[in-house]
Amino acid sequence: MADTAQSIDVEVPDPWSLPLEGFDVSKAEIFQQNKQGEYFRRLRQEAPVHYCPDSAVGAYWSVTKYNDIIAVDSNHKVFSSVPSIVIGDPSDDFQPPMFIAMDPPIHDIQRKAAQPAVAPSQLSELEDLIRQRVCNILDGLPVGQEFNWVDRVSIELTTQMLATLFDYPFEDRHKLPFWSDVATTSDAVGVAGADMEWRMKHLNECLASFTELWHQRAAEPRKFDFISLLAHDPQTKDMVNNPIELLGNLMLLIVGGNDTTRNSISGGVYFLNKFPDQYAKLKADPSLIPNMVSEIIRYQTPLAHMRRVATEDTELGGQKIRKGDKVVMWYVSGNRDEEAIERPDEFLIDRQNARRHVSFGFGIHRCMGNRVAEMQLRILWEEIMNRFEHVEVVGEPERVLSNFVLGYTHLPVVLHAKA
Ligand code: HEM
Repeated sequence: MADTAQSIDVEVPDPWSLPLEGFDVSKAEIFQQNKQGEYFRRLRQEAPVHYCPDSAVGAYWSVTKYNDIIAVDSNHKVFSSVPSIVIGDPSDDFQPPMFIAMDPPIHDIQRKAAQPAVAPSQLSELEDLIRQRVCNILDGLPVGQEFNWVDRVSIELTTQMLATLFDYPFEDRHKLPFWSDVATTSDAVGVAGADMEWRMKHLNECLASFTELWHQRAAEPRKFDFISLLAHDPQTKDMVNNPIELLGNLMLLIVGGNDTTRNSISGGVYFLNKFPDQYAKLKADPSLIPNMVSEIIRYQTPLAHMRRVATEDTELGGQKIRKGDKVVMWYVSGNRDEEAIERPDEFLIDRQNARRHVSFGFGIHRCMGNRVAEMQLRILWEEIMNRFEHVEVVGEPERVLSNFVLGYTHLPVVLHAKA
């Protein structure tokens, strides 16, 4: 995202000074300036299911409380994922279908075909390889010198993981995060003026590369990477003949595993520095790592929202939602809901029920890669603790401009070796 995000210097207004009517949380600069906390606190307190009649992304409902989010996410019959899961509408001339933005039956068929790549049995197969890659990355880092953690660790590690899940040629792996950036840079997530011609050029390159890979995999015995699985499943084997559908699902699988895990990797380092008592707790007891991983994912909430469309008139939180209305579940708010989560603004690595967050969603679309993301973070932190006394954050991070992906473009750190 770093190359394409515009920087916005004007400070967003104090949310408590704005009228609730027309209160608009879709502005990407709110998130880039990390000011969303008070915006959503206001909504949770005064209008937990709130209607914004007009914004750059049109009219939309905001659902901000934990239980209401679960209610919407678990009811795919009334709240459809078609035509898109981001707040902005897809452009009329470019709407690649992907299973995250579909309802049953097609959703279920395509998810089932791809899922074995990240099934528990497959993950235990991958664990050694991931650990080896984590160790290589960490062993190559400079000790005692400032560098950007986002580039050297977060992006590199998630890129290697993605290349593994696709069994994509390892030497070309850096194309994957680039295509992910191209796919996520759009008006639909609040990045105005994204150049469509530029996007299409690169997305076509992505499609061409994976089409070639697909034909190779189809001719070989079935393996457990995403492409081989889709190419061999009787229900999806013809997807290659529908290039726009193939591109849509590639975008889903590339983006799904990229920004999310990347930003959780950066977020963890940042939070431990913001909450030094928690870093001390981790050093005293590294067995807290698996629990901490869930807390990092809650506290970061790498995807701020998912959007649905009401398929019938319905009621939520005392508000009448009409058929066709856009309904946005703000996970970033649900994860800070004081009524559902104790001391939600604190990062507590030994939090009880740390996995009870909404960052992975609920229901039929619940994140397919949640276990692989957790495993990656767990291994990373085990190996960090084996090597470094301290990962010191030496400056404030720069953040992504998006109302969808919450994350960092720059996080300056200095590593301190173990004595
Ligand atoms: C779906 C978050 C990592 C693949 C989702 C959803 C969320 C999410 C919020 C939608 C849930 C809903 O609508 O109810 C995250 C977070 C991650 C992460 C926070 C990391 C911390 C991954 C990884 C992959 C992945 C590593 C693997 C490539 C997917 C896919 C879907 C999905 C394919 C669509 C599932 C469906 O529609 O059935 N993710 N994700 N995600 N995620 Fe993740």
